[in-house]
Order: sequence, then structure tokens, then C-alpha cells
Amino acid sequence: MIRFEDYSFIYGIENSEAGIHNINLAIDKGECILLCGSSGCGKSTLIRSVNGIIPHLMPGRYEGKVYVNDLIVQETEMYELAKVTSSVFQNPKSQFFNTDVESEIVYSLENQGIDVGIINDRLNKTISELRLQDLTGRSMFELSGGEKQQIAFAGAYISDAPVVLLDEPTANLDPDSIIKIRNILIKMKAEGKTIIIAEHRLSWLNGIADKVMYMRNGRIETVMNGGEFFGIPENKRIELGLRELGGINVSYNNLLNGRSTGKCLEASDLTLSYKKHVVQNHLSLYVNKGEILGITGVNGAGKTTLLRTLAGLSKKNPGRSQ
Ligand SMILES: Nc1ncnc2c1ncn2[C@@H]1O[C@H](COP(=O)(O)OP(=O)(O)O)[C@@H](O)[C@H]1O
Ligand SMILES: [Mg+2]
Repeated sequence: MIRFEDYSFIYGIENSEAGIHNINLAIDKGECILLCGSSGCGKSTLIRSVNGIIPHLMPGRYEGKVYVNDLIVQETEMYELAKVTSSVFQNPKSQFFNTDVESEIVYSLENQGIDVGIINDRLNKTISELRLQDLTGRSMFELSGGEKQQIAFAGAYISDAPVVLLDEPTANLDPDSIIKIRNILIKMKAEGKTIIIAEHRLSWLNGIADKVMYMRNGRIETVMNGGEFFGIPENKRIELGLRELGGINVSYNNLLNGRSTGKCLEASDLTLSYKKHVVQNHLSLYVNKGEILGITGVNGAGKTTLLRTLAGLSKKNPGRSQ
């Protein structure tokens, strides 16, 4: 289904060596591949070499070939590649074309000229299966980072493309949304889709990834089957620079030794709003000097809006913070 043959790509800066080197791999129809490795190891470059962003939109030098079915990516127009691959990018903001949620989800189907009745049926099915009811009717500009990522995922889910490419699809998602996406991936696998996921978060893919490819310095260093990879002892996995599966363990001792010496930041009767949406009314809080305040909540709860307001970036909000 997907084949890399002696493939290398170097980004188009003179004398640069940044990119991926000597990639040979074959992915069968219906397989789910997890690409992992530390930042800069080449995961996104590999994914862009399948959907055609490389070399069609990002200049550089390549050698060898990448096949998706019988199409050679380097020699196939983007609109043809778009029929066989759908992607969720690392930064979903960079992939939107529409101003409202529904139009964005159905964008790939509209581009293919699919009948309006069929599009509407599939839109309703996608919204209900992905439980996106709360986001319908909203403007894309008024969604939080995590909500945008869910819409990007819905766009890939609704598409007919047999290959799904996900570049850190959970980067902005809260735990409930990750479980949602895990369930959708299980459905996609059952439908026979071929899936490549580049991820730092690993545990949610246990039981889903058929193969795990570990990349380092632009090369694939190790390929393991999913069961084998998720069975590696934790210390060995951390040695490889991969996040442990259970969550991140940090020592809090040093952090908690800070001295609290009176209020440093105080906000009273704040109204948090994002564009036309009021996120919260009458919010008051204070933080003492030396304290660390953790703000947590589901996607869209208002975490970013609160920080923007406290930083003075939201001029319209009534209330005071100092
Ligand atoms: N747009 C770009 N222009 C130039 N170099 C890039 C670009 N994107 C990535 N690189 C370089 O290519 C290498 C692989 O990066 P990338 O594929 O983004 O890794 P990952 O997705 O694993 O973090 C790195 O050395 C990175 O600095
Ligand atoms: Mg990346």
C-alpha cells in the first residue's frame, strides 16, 4: 500500500543535511503504524513525503521513490494524492480553509464533487460518532486549540481516502478527547484504512499500533511489532527518549520548597470571553509570589482565554487584574 524505496529528502537549504535518509519500508493495507522518536528525528518529514507536501509544496532534494498504491508521490499531482491520503497536521490551524465547523469537516468531500445529500448524511454520521454536537454551528475562529484538532480529525474521518496520516493528533487534546479519538481509530482500522501516526504520547496507541517505527536522526532505527514495543520495560523506553506510558513522573520536592510571600497576581470579577463567547463570569483569583498555579480543564474550558486575559491581551474583558 505504501512503500519507500531508498528514499531520502533534504530540506532545500544549501549545505543542510536536515531531513530523512535512506528510508526503505513497506506498509500493508489496513496496517496502523506508530512513528516515534524525539523532536526533529524526521517523523513529520516522513508523513509529508506520503501526502505529497514534500516535494510538491516544500522545496528540497530527494532521491528514491515513495509509492502509495501504484502512484509515485513525487510524480503525482496533489489533487490526485488528496484522493488517497487524508492528513491531520501537527498544527491544525495551518490546514483549515473554511470559516465554520461544518464546511471544514466536509471540505474534502465537496472538493471531490460528491452529491450534497450524501455529504449531509456523512456529516451527520461523523458529528454523532465523534460526538461533536457541541461544536456545530460554531465559527472556526472561535474554537480552542483542542477543538480545532477534533475538527481536523473529523475532516480526515469523513474522507474516503484509504490512507490516513496523523501528525501528533493529540497534541492539544484532553484525556476524554484522546479516548474518543482512540475509539475512532479502532473504527477506521475495522474499515481497512491504512494509518500512520507520528506521536510523542504513546500509551493511547497500545493495542492499536500494529508496528512501531523508532526514528533517530532522520533514519528508521528500529521496527517492532506493537505487542513487542509496548512490552519494553519502562527504563529501556525512557533510555530511547520515549515518553513512559503511564504519564510523566517528575519530582515535585524542589518545586514545593518555594516561599510564598504575599499576593503577586490578583484578578477580581473577571469576565472571560473569546470573541462573542462568554467563557466565564465573575472570576476572582490570586496567586502568591513563588507559587505555581496549575490550570486544568477540558478542551474549550477557557484555559488559554484566562491566561490571555491575565496577560492583558484581552482588552475588552471587564474586571481587574494586577
Ligand atoms: N520546513 C523545514 N525546513 C527546513 N528544515 C526542516 C523543516 N522541517 C523540518 N526540518 C528539519 O528536518 C529534520 C526532521 O524534522 P521533522 O520531520 O520535523 O521531525 P519531527 O517531526 O520528528 O519532530 C530536523 O532536522 C528539522 O530541523
Ligand atoms: Mg513533527
